[in-house]
Amino acid sequence: MNKKETLLEQIRADIIDNNICPDLAKTAKNLVMGDGNIDADIVFIGEAPGKNEDETGLPFVGAAGKFLDEMLMTAGMKRSDIYITNIVKYRPPNNRDPLPEEKKAFWPFLVRQLQVIRPKIVVTLGRHSMEYFLPEQKISMIHGDPKRISFGETKIVIVPLYHPAAALYNGSMRATLIEDFMKLPTIINILEKEKK
Ligand code: URA
Repeated sequence: MNKKETLLEQIRADIIDNNICPDLAKTAKNLVMGDGNIDADIVFIGEAPGKNEDETGLPFVGAAGKFLDEMLMTAGMKRSDIYITNIVKYRPPNNRDPLPEEKKAFWPFLVRQLQVIRPKIVVTLGRHSMEYFLPEQKISMIHGDPKRISFGETKIVIVPLYHPAAALYNGSMRATLIEDFMKLPTIINILEKEKK
């Protein structure tokens, strides 16, 4: 295991050892930490695992994940170019929305994941993961607009997107999400040029 892998494993162990969200832990089959490229410049953050994710232990493997994969492909990216995780790492029963206290309990662990991976861009999927990075904002007002924020010692760009599960069966939201998603390659290019 390399250093980053070891640090990420430690985060998983700390969630278990500190008994984070014991009620969720009791009903969930798996702790879903995240998946993808831990050296990626871009991290996607969803809400919480659903049924398929709980069963496999992997994020975004159900219908929303397939839709995400299609959008990634259209934008010229693959899962292996990104890292993907959720704010809440156990499945809430019956796929209910994560509670404020559940998001609060898992937030420090998400921060630690980002401190290890050190992405330049964080794509939030839905309002639950957006609200901690961009408090007091409404997703309907700012979706698709990149925002540069200070994050600890560094600066990162947050790209707030609608959640693929919400957009999946809603024609106009779906079109908006696809349109916003297709801005990602341009945002990545601009940041690449700034580096040079
Ligand atoms: N929805 C999410 O927010 N996360 C997943 O992992 C799957 C569906």
